[in-house]
Amino acid sequence: MKFFIDTANLDQIREANDLGVLDGVTTNPSLVKKEGNIDFHERVQEICDIVDGDVSAEVTATDFNGIMTEAHELAQLHENVVVKVPLIREGIKAIRALSDEGIPTNCTLCFSPMQALLAAKAGATYISPFIGRIDDISSNGMQLIEEIVQIYANYGLETEVLAASIRHPMHVKEAALAGADVATIPFGTIQKLLEHPLTDRGLQRFLDDWNAYQDELAEAV
Ligand code: E4P
Repeated sequence: MKFFIDTANLDQIREANDLGVLDGVTTNPSLVKKEGNIDFHERVQEICDIVDGDVSAEVTATDFNGIMTEAHELAQLHENVVVKVPLIREGIKAIRALSDEGIPTNCTLCFSPMQALLAAKAGATYISPFIGRIDDISSNGMQLIEEIVQIYANYGLETEVLAASIRHPMHVKEAALAGADVATIPFGTIQKLLEHPLTDRGLQRFLDDWNAYQDELAEAV
């Protein structure tokens, strides 16, 4: 399973990248807005300079020509840029055209298996089902991941399932069990993946015992 970080924050990206397990980055207009007064294209380039992997950058146009213009601008920024396109009628058309041009795409805002099938047929590189936002409305986000993984497997579709809108470590675990190709994870959740109280307690005991053993050896001399 590939791990992407879901942020436009350079400090978070650097710290996650330093762990050595980061495969890419996803951004969206809301995440960019959180960063304050920054230039979007400049930020995408900065992210690409840090991470050696796919970096999703989202278009904001909603008509075919506008999406294509923005997509070409974004794709020119760096070879690792993946153009993120919303799962709307004009977006699907644009994904088909971009795919024909060899420009990688991440089809975003997916909330149903049939939307995911359309995106794959249009040639999307990634499909982003939003797990957390489905859970937020008392429905089952993980079921969507399972169904998309199954449908893509049935037909040998190559679009990668990118579990998005992840809120906590259980989402990552369940997406992995369901066979999602990628999880895009917020920084705080990446940190939580590391943590276990028994690891901390166990390490403390090992270190205490080691120090006591050293003291005994010193006393025996
Ligand atoms: C990433 O590609 C998505 O835009 C992001 O995961 C959405 O997450 P949210 O539902 O927490 O905003």
